[in-house]
This record gives sequence, structure tokens and C-alpha cells, in this order.
Amino acid sequence: MEKFVINGGHPLKGEILVSGAKNSAVAILPATLLLDVPCIIENVPDISDVEICLKILKGLGAEVKPLNQQGDTYWISCRNVSDFYVPYKEAKKMRASYYFLGALLGRCGNARAAMPGGCSLGARPIDQHLKAFEILGAKQLIEDQQSDIVELHAESLRGGNISMDVVSVGATMNAILAAVKAPGITIIENAAKEPHVVDLANFLNYMGANIKGAGTDVIKIEGVKKLMGNAGEGSTVDYRYSIVPDQIEAGTFMVAAAATKGDVIIKGVIPKHLEAITAKLIDCGVNVEELDNMDAIRVSVENKKIFCPTNIKTEPYPGFPTDMQPQMATLLTIANGESSIMENVWEDRFRYVHELRKMGAEINITQNGAVVRGGDLLTGACVNACDLRAGAAMIIAGLMANGCTEITEIQHIERGYADIAKKLRGIGADIVKI
Ligand code: EPU
Repeated sequence: MEKFVINGGHPLKGEILVSGAKNSAVAILPATLLLDVPCIIENVPDISDVEICLKILKGLGAEVKPLNQQGDTYWISCRNVSDFYVPYKEAKKMRASYYFLGALLGRCGNARAAMPGGCSLGARPIDQHLKAFEILGAKQLIEDQQSDIVELHAESLRGGNISMDVVSVGATMNAILAAVKAPGITIIENAAKEPHVVDLANFLNYMGANIKGAGTDVIKIEGVKKLMGNAGEGSTVDYRYSIVPDQIEAGTFMVAAAATKGDVIIKGVIPKHLEAITAKLIDCGVNVEELDNMDAIRVSVENKKIFCPTNIKTEPYPGFPTDMQPQMATLLTIANGESSIMENVWEDRFRYVHELRKMGAEINITQNGAVVRGGDLLTGACVNACDLRAGAAMIIAGLMANGCTEITEIQHIERGYADIAKKLRGIGADIVKI
């Protein structure tokens, strides 16, 4: 069993580069199924969720060729895809397998996949995805509520008005995937506004789609017949698209730099995407400086600094991201006073608290939140990465703690962070994978 071993107490110093966004990549890779020409996707993060996406694509019949040694650029052609069954085992390994439903439906009017797996954060229904597909003309072939399989068929998809009952990243992106080639106009109201929603729309628009309003709460899509870029049929132009930087990886490095009282330049970021995280770090007394001309952000803390407590309320973008909640809670364990955390997106995102307590953290769970009582520095312990972001929190805890921390179940971390131990070693962390 692999684990991370961290000797804490080293302030992080230097420069660190952020990879492409996981939550964009896992939608843009399935979206290639909709294209009528090959494309090249750059800045693809080297994480296990991407590996699974590529495996599913290849299994469906796509040609996928890595174009460089770093493994962050792929040439993909879906010309010969004829299958629409996503293998059960692969679908179960990650949440984002649901994007194959939207993409396959949009491609050929048929899609079949298991109910998606992924981090256990409480109930993770996909009713809004299914509602959107139905409005666009798809029928569920398996009506049994207990079934673990979703199978969809549409005689012919057509545009429609979709009003989401909850703001859902996945349902918004899936509706875009299914609607982009559906004849007529689709309106998505109460849409999610996350950077990865905009990234997916930008990618599809670059390939010839007509999507307006991504990044606002109303998205309008005019279905197009083909997605073949603007060079026309038979052209030999390479269509290249680069995935946006990962907002949550960047935020995780920002908190790690602050929590170890370091001085780190986090490169390859879009500072605008980090505003909610930056604001909370500034509340705590952290110095955050945007280095616009370098697409970078510098996070620094003086050695003797005592952090101020703050209150956090997780919300859809542009609010404070739920995917940064465990990491920020970890920093707050050494703030001077009590901080409250309200989790408004996932009902069960506090499993990491049990692990942090093993390191001496004082955190009480409340009805839909937690109260963190700041105190002494954490002490190294053996802890578990219960899910992806909980795992990121454990790494931050280990980096700031006195002594040695061992983190198990690191496959959860590797689902979303590319080469995290190596990247952190580059800025002075004592972390190894064994
Ligand atoms: N919801 C429904 N019905 C639906 C869909 C969602 O009730 O059909 C509810 C969920 O239960 C939740 C809320 O709506 O309470 C928001 O869920 P959303 O659909 O936005 O989440 P998701 O698309 O399944 C993505 C990210 C998550 C991230 C959330 C929120 C991917 C693959 N996953 O999940 O990322 O927490 O958006 O920003 O994009 C992570 O990266 O660690 C992670 C969990």
C-alpha cells in the first residue's frame, strides 16, 4: 500500500507550477466524442481521473496519442467510435464518468454507463442531468430506480428550455454536451458559473459550437450540425486547445504556502479564479500578491505571524469553493481563535475532521458545518486520505505539523493532483511516496 510520509515544519519557499484543471479535463476529454475532426488537447493534468477518461475513450474506439514526454498533450480522434457503452468498472471509478452520458448522447443519441463513482461526500444524485437530457428529447431505457445503470436513447435530440432546480456543475456541463449539436435553441437557466463550465464552452466554441453566456447563470446554445473548427472539411489544420489552470490545485498550494509560513510564487494560474480563496487568506493575515504579468500569485507569511480566525461559507462559484474547505479548515487549526465553517454544497464533507483530530486539532461538527478552535501547531500522526480534498488537507496538515505524518489511501489524492509530492519537494517540502 502506497503512502506519503511527511516531515513537517519546513516553510515552503520557491516557485511551483499548477497543472491543467481536473474538472475541465474530465469534461473536455469526453467532449472530443462530439467532434467531426481530430484535435489536440494541451495542459492535460497527469492524474488518475484523466487516465480513466482516456481509457474509456480508447475503449469506445477513439485514437489517442500522447504527443510529448510530460504526458500533458494528446492528439485525439473519435472518427472510428461506434460504441456507446461505458464499461461498468471504469464508470464506477470516478464521478466524471457521467460526462460520457452527455457526450455520447450528443454524438449518436445513445449512451449507457453505470451510475458514477468518485469521492464519497454524501448523496450525489444526477436527477438534474437526467432532467436536462429528457428535456432535450432523451428517454431513460431503464426506469428501475434501483438500477445501477443509466441507459439513454433519443430518436432525435432538439433544443429545449432547461431550468436547473439546483446549481450543478455536472448537470450544466452535461446539458451543454447533449445540446451542442441538437437542432434548435437550448437555454440553461440557473447554470453553474465555475471556470471549468466556461472552459468547456470555450473549447466547444473553438471547435465550431455556438454557446453564449457560459460563466453567467443563463447559457444559450444554438445547435450546430458539425463541430469541425472553422477551417472547413478536408482541412489539415491542427486544432489545439489548452485546458485552464486548476483553480483548486492552485488554492491548495496557496494554503500550503501560508500554513507553513512560507513564501511561494504559484505560477500558471488565473488570479481571477482564485479571488474567493485569496480573500479568505487575506482575512487570516496572509500576504497575497497577484503577479499579473507572470500569470502568478505570491503567497507569503512572516515567521512570527499569528493567523486571525475567519468564517467560511461554501458556495457555487464565485463563492468560496467547497473543494477548498478541508484545506482551509486545516490552516485555521492554528489561528488565534474560533472559526466557523458552513458547508452548503456537500452534506458529508467533514470526514477529514476525524483525521485532523488525531493530529491534535480541535474541531467540532455542527449541523451543517464545523467550528475550528485554533490552537497549537498540529503533531504528526498516521492519517487517512478519506477523499481527494481531505487528502490535500492531510498533506497541508503534515507539512505544517511538528514531527512525522504518514498518509494512507493516497490513491484518492492522485485522482486530482499531478505529481504532488515531487512538486512540493521542489519548494522545500520533506515529503516522499513510499
Ligand atoms: N445535485 C443534485 N442533483 C444533481 C446534481 C447535483 O441535487 O443532479 C446537488 C449535489 O448533491 C450537490 C450540489 O447539487 O449538493 C452541487 O453538485 P454539482 O453537480 O455541482 O457537483 P458535481 O458536478 O457532481 C463537481 C466537481 C466536484 C465539486 C462540485 C461542486 C467534477 C467532476 N466534480 O461535482 O469536485 O465539489 O462540482 O463544485 O467536476 C473535487 O474535485 O474534489 C470534487 C468533488
